[in-house]
Amino acid sequence: MNWPEHGGQPDLMKKLLHAEELEVLDFSANLNPLGPPEWLQGELEAQWKNLLSYPDPNYSISNSALARMEKIRDEEILLTNGGAEAIFLAAKYFEGKRAGIVHPAFSEYERACRHYHLKVTDILTSPEEDFRLPMNQLLESLPNLDVLFLCRPNNPAGVVIPKGEIKMLLEQGLHQQTFLVIDEAFVDFVPSESLTPLLQEYPNLILLRSLTKMYTIPGLRLGYMMAREAVINEMKNFQVPWSVNALASAVAPLLLRDKSYSAHTVCWLEEQTKKLQTFAQNNDFYLSNTSVNFYLLQDNRQRERTEALFTFLFQHGILARHTYNFKGLEGSHLRLAIRSEEENAKLLTILKKWREKV
Ligand SMILES: Cc1ncc(COP(=O)(O)O)c(C=O)c1O
Repeated sequence: MNWPEHGGQPDLMKKLLHAEELEVLDFSANLNPLGPPEWLQGELEAQWKNLLSYPDPNYSISNSALARMEKIRDEEILLTNGGAEAIFLAAKYFEGKRAGIVHPAFSEYERACRHYHLKVTDILTSPEEDFRLPMNQLLESLPNLDVLFLCRPNNPAGVVIPKGEIKMLLEQGLHQQTFLVIDEAFVDFVPSESLTPLLQEYPNLILLRSLTKMYTIPGLRLGYMMAREAVINEMKNFQVPWSVNALASAVAPLLLRDKSYSAHTVCWLEEQTKKLQTFAQNNDFYLSNTSVNFYLLQDNRQRERTEALFTFLFQHGILARHTYNFKGLEGSHLRLAIRSEEENAKLLTILKKWREKV
C-alpha cells in the first residue's frame, strides 16, 4: 500500500483500505484531545474584519506580545505560517550546507533539507534504548555538521531528551560553529522542558514552535521561531510577505496568554497517560515513555505483527498512525494519539480483544 506521509487523513485511509463506509475514530493525528479553547471560535468570528485589510507585515503587536511572554526581545522572534514554515525557513538558512537529523523524527526536516540541497546525515535512536541520543557519536559528528535538527519532545515517541545533553551539544556546537535547530512543537504539553532560557546563553540555538498541537488549530496555520536577532533578520528575508494570516496573528498572543487552558490540558493528560501505561504493563504491550499527547505502541508478544495490529484496530473503528516513514522504526510500531477518556477506553477494549485472540 502507498502509505500517506502524515497522519490525520481518515478519509484517505478509508479509501486506501477500501472501507469508505466504516466509522473510524482518528487516533492518527496528534492534536490536543480537548479541542480548542472555548472562546476561540467567537474571537475568530469577531476578528473577521481584519481579513479586509493587509496584516502588518511585521506582525509587530503579536510579535511583541509573544516576545514578552517568552521573556525574550522582540527582535528574537518571528511569527510563521505553522511550525512547518519555521522548519522550511530554518533549512533555507543553511542552504547547501551539512545537516544531521536525529531519527525517528517528523518527516518534514528531511524534506526541507533536501529541498534546500543540504547534505544530510542520519543519526538513529531506537525504542530499545528509549530513544536516548548516541552522545559519543553525536559529539564526534558535530565538527562535520553545520546544523543538527532535533525534535524535543520527539514525534513519534513523545520522549524528551535530557536538557543536560542538549546543553552539552550546544556547548560543543558553539566552538565548532554548529547550530542546533530544535523543534518544540509539542513542548506546550511539558512546559517545564521549554528551552527558551537557553537562547540567551547559546547564539547557535534556533527554536521552532507550533500552536497547532496544543490549541487544536491545524487549519489556522500558526507557529513561531526564536533565535538571536541576526538569525531572525535573515529568516525574515526568506519569508513570503504576509505569510501569516490576520486572524492567526491576532489570536496568537491570546492563545498563549490562556494559561489555564494549557495547564488543564497538561493535568488531564497526565491522568490519561497513567491509565494507558498501566494497561500496557498489565497486558504486555510496549508503550513509549511519552510526555505528550501521543505514544508509540507495539505488542511485546508479537513484535513482527504490527501491520496486522493496525488492520485489526482499523476493522474495529480505530485509525492508528503507521510508522513506515519514520527512519529507525520502518513500521515496527504504531503511533496513537491520546484522545478522550471514553475513546481511550474503547481503544483499550479493542487491544484487550486483540490480546485474547492470540
Ligand atoms: C514535530 C512537528 N513539528 C511541526 C509540525 C508542523 O506543525 P504545524 O501544523 O504547526 O505546521 C508537526 C506536525 O505534525 C510536527 O509533528
